[in-house]
Amino acid sequence: MRTVFLLLLVAFPALDIGSACEEARKKRDLLVRTKRRWVLSTIELEEEMIVNYPYFLSKMYNDKIQGQDFSFEITGEAVTEGYLAINGTSGEVFALKPIDREKYDCFHVIFDVYDTDTNQKIDKELAFDVEVKDINDNPPRFIQFPQTFTVSESQVEGYLGVQVVAQDMDEKNTKNSTFNITVIKQTPPEPKIQAKWIDERTVHLSFTGCFDYEKAKEYNITLEAKDHGTPPLSSTEIISLNVRDTNTHMPEFKKKEGSMKKEDLYLNGTLQFQTEVHEMKLYRDVFRFPVEDKDTPNTDGWRAKFFFISGNEEGIFKVETDPKTNEGIFSIVKEKNYENTTMIELKIGVENIEPFTKCVNGKLIKQDGKLYRPDSINVTITMIDGNDPPVFQPPKADVYEKEESEPGRVLFTPKVYDPDSSSFRFELVDDPANWVSIDEKTGEIKGTKKMDRESPFVDADNVYKIIIAAIDDGKPPAKGFCNVSIYLRDINDHKPQLVNNSLILCGNKNNKVMIPVQDLDADPYNGPFSFYFDDEEDEKHWTLEPAYGQQGGLVSLKPLPYGKYSIPLRMQDQQNNEGHETLEVVVCDCEEKNTCNVKKALSFSSWMSPAFAHKWPDRLWQTRDSGRDKTA
Ligand SMILES: *[C@@H]1O[C@H](CO)[C@@H](O)[C@H](O)[C@H]1NC(C)=O
Ligand SMILES: *[C@@H]1O[C@H](CO)[C@@H](O)[C@H](O)[C@H]1NC(C)=O
Ligand SMILES: *[C@@H]1O[C@H](CO)[C@@H](O)[C@H](O)[C@H]1NC(C)=O
Repeated sequence: MRTVFLLLLVAFPALDIGSACEEARKKRDLLVRTKRRWVLSTIELEEEMIVNYPYFLSKMYNDKIQGQDFSFEITGEAVTEGYLAINGTSGEVFALKPIDREKYDCFHVIFDVYDTDTNQKIDKELAFDVEVKDINDNPPRFIQFPQTFTVSESQVEGYLGVQVVAQDMDEKNTKNSTFNITVIKQTPPEPKIQAKWIDERTVHLSFTGCFDYEKAKEYNITLEAKDHGTPPLSSTEIISLNVRDTNTHMPEFKKKEGSMKKEDLYLNGTLQFQTEVHEMKLYRDVFRFPVEDKDTPNTDGWRAKFFFISGNEEGIFKVETDPKTNEGIFSIVKEKNYENTTMIELKIGVENIEPFTKCVNGKLIKQDGKLYRPDSINVTITMIDGNDPPVFQPPKADVYEKEESEPGRVLFTPKVYDPDSSSFRFELVDDPANWVSIDEKTGEIKGTKKMDRESPFVDADNVYKIIIAAIDDGKPPAKGFCNVSIYLRDINDHKPQLVNNSLILCGNKNNKVMIPVQDLDADPYNGPFSFYFDDEEDEKHWTLEPAYGQQGGLVSLKPLPYGKYSIPLRMQDQQNNEGHETLEVVVCDCEEKNTCNVKKALSFSSWMSPAFAHKWPDRLWQTRDSGRDKTA
């Protein structure tokens, strides 16, 4: 320990010694100038000193103590934590135990000297910071890294996506705390994995070359962090890396295995499928292409994806993958009319859902033109030109006809086009009400019966639908169809009718009953309707309110005896087409309900005039109380 006596010029090296010391140092100059009488040696503290404790550090002295009884004192955290002490009489300062700099890198200490008689300070205090000198007692340690991680086989060389962080607790910005991280060992050794510096604590793992799952599925990487101290300290960590299998085998058509269809032809070393399908038809699953793939089954590196290289510009064909067998399923998905029998040459390729890559001689190779090209197959389809059916032009016809017209008129004459026949006959395919006939040669449709718009064979839109066909003379004959819709215009052929000839009027509750009416004709040949009494006599006892509307209302002018009344009515639709009907109204006591109490309906009021008593039906008279019979 070097001990130098100074006159208060407490000189510390202008080092960055950590935050605790920094603030205090700023004030030091001022302090030093005011403490001219203190004399001390510098205090030098080193962490973790291996010495005998208490260990002499330095000796304090003050000019003003001459001839007095005095005592030195030291205060501060170093004292309360038991690191430093002073001999009051001799001024000797001692370290009491080792100090860990990583816990206390600086102590602020205050020296005082007291007159032991008066207990007064002999001089102003002396305060300064004592820095704890670092030794290299901490190795750098890994504080952030994955224990294991996974890399896909198709990973392109460069960053592996893994970051490693280490830390050294020794004094910042010194050799004791700065370090390197390196890969000191890896098994297996290829591809080479390195640590690349990002900042003073962080590295990224990267690699050059490529991974091959079939050669190595797992790697152990030993990382070392080593500081620059003398001697250096280090620590190591092992990270394991797993390789995930990706698509490294291309699917291949199983060409040479006769597992396809009978139609396979193997000619001049190239395979041709031949199949005959008829034009203008959709076929599902015409035939299948088995494929072989050496990657792990049921992964995207194994699943086949078929595509057309040429020949399917119109999108007529489709190849899907059977998810279970990985076979290609060939289908015809769009109809096309070929005028002649036509050979269609298709070239179909197969690849996987996951892009293909392969590690060859330390290089990652992708699917490309030369080395790794998707397998392909040639397919020849023979499209047989069939007998095309006659085509109605237009394929649907609308005809307008008034209902109830006299039969016999020509309703419709079809036009037909056929690319490969000139002669055809016509037939009636559907005529549900049996209302028309067809001319076999010309296709003319005539009405054979009056057509009623209100028939159940006519739909809600007043349309009667028939289907006709034209059949050509081809072998086999082909048939074309035409839907003919006959729109029936309404005529006023129905009169308004009572919905219910018999109504109940609850005499004990009200004096009105509504009269519902129906008319089978469509607008404008139906309601609202006008209502009239057919017998003027009734106007004495009843009135019609309303007398115009979808329903009429029958109102009794005064309370009426219970019983049954017959009221002849006239009802007119909007065109004054008139119906005559007699409405039976039973006036009765309904009590609380809305149904007639038969017994009460038969009771009879004394004021009833003979004028309309004739309207009581016999059935009621017979059961009535004979004592009150006034109409006999
Ligand atoms: C680093 O530690 C050593 C002891 O291991 C010590 O001698 C040296 O002074 C320290 N260096 C710095 C810059 O603190
Ligand atoms: C497919 O047909 C083409 C000609 O269109 C021919 O050059 C090629 O060799 C054939 N490939 C196979 C696999 O048969
Ligand atoms: C007609 O009215 C009578 C009496 O109100 C009722 O019993 C019958 O169900 C009605 N009939 C119809 C078809 O509404």
